[in-house]
Amino acid sequence: MVEPAIRPQPHRQYQSRLATEILRRLDQVLPVGDGPYPLHEPLFAGNEKKYLAECIDTGWVSSAGPFVERFEAELSSFTGLHAVACVNGTAALHTCLLLSGVSPDDEVLVPTVTFVATANAVSYCGAVPHFVDSEADTLGVDPDRLAAYLDATLEPRNDDVWRNKVSKRPVRALIVTHIFGHPPKLDRLKAVADQYGIALIEDAAEALGTFHESAHAGSIGDCAALSFNGNKTITAGGGGAIITRDPDVARQAKHLTTTARVADGFDWTHDTVGYNYRLPNINAALACAQLEQLPRFLAAKRRLADDYIAAFDDLPEAAVISEQAQAHSNYWLNTLLLKEKDRGTRDHILTETNSTGYHCRPLWTPMHRLPMYRDCPAMELTTAQSLFESVISLPSGPALRLG
Ligand SMILES: Cc1ncc(COP(=O)(O)O)c(C=O)c1O
Repeated sequence: MVEPAIRPQPHRQYQSRLATEILRRLDQVLPVGDGPYPLHEPLFAGNEKKYLAECIDTGWVSSAGPFVERFEAELSSFTGLHAVACVNGTAALHTCLLLSGVSPDDEVLVPTVTFVATANAVSYCGAVPHFVDSEADTLGVDPDRLAAYLDATLEPRNDDVWRNKVSKRPVRALIVTHIFGHPPKLDRLKAVADQYGIALIEDAAEALGTFHESAHAGSIGDCAALSFNGNKTITAGGGGAIITRDPDVARQAKHLTTTARVADGFDWTHDTVGYNYRLPNINAALACAQLEQLPRFLAAKRRLADDYIAAFDDLPEAAVISEQAQAHSNYWLNTLLLKEKDRGTRDHILTETNSTGYHCRPLWTPMHRLPMYRDCPAMELTTAQSLFESVISLPSGPALRLG
């Protein structure tokens, strides 16, 4: 993979003027004197202490206990999907891939614009990530370019499995990520996956509370992963879930993530190599308390997003990413997209905002540029590179509008 050219830096005075304009708008939304403002910190304003004390008082702190089932039931009721709690979002993704039949030496289509866990979960299966490009309006996989690319890259075999013409490996699944809570164009991506008979897995780690039309994230793919890491909309300390509309997939997910134990009288028996991906009861207790507050958190995050969008509306050099017509985003991370000519200013702006007390963050280094994934198959990834140079995520926690 060719390393990207270093973009020429705009004149320093120009960079400072733009950073000043951005800081002025941040100050309108989050007054500088009340800072510093972390990127996304957890807010514990409900029954967290009460439920945690209940775990300690009863001794149910580990891999069994009533909060796990309660959390699964409440998450299921919120999303309208079957929900299986597990230890983190990465484990949830790994489980989704295993349940989609991903095996060693398969290829899985993965956006290069994603967190490293998405690609790592593919590696845990012994499969190879095959990187695809994203689009600027949703930050998700570009369905039109994907369709054209697969048309040129895959060939059918008589076993009905489509293979990469060059590597000859079967292409088994497509993972799409809801970046910062924005759903990708799921209907079109599902049509592309169906055309090639490959599974569609939604990495919805950042997307609890995100809807595509009226369906919660995870409703269109075969299965999806959620994360409840400390920086997510709600947290379990660490935690995740597999969500799916298919009860059979949910049943298999529960089995696989709980060591594949078969209840058989007094016998302690397992029928396959399962995983200890169980969510401890103490984490589920925290998750239950947080889930009770989710509607308030989502409303607060939406108010903050509206304020950012209004404050940056008149800045020609950058725009805040807003939800598409078909989407209802959870606005997990509000994000500024610098215009083409201003991309060289990203690091200067990050330095200025962070030193003023606004914890802002760039996009992850694209997966195809990481040393372990540099030699993986990939389509042309030009939009990913420009997104990498132009994304600045802004402070976005619910406390910023609940305080
Ligand atoms: C897009 C994405 N995928 C996967 C994960 C992995 O989740 P976890 O940290 O819970 O393992 C995260 C978050 O951390 C994420 O942002």
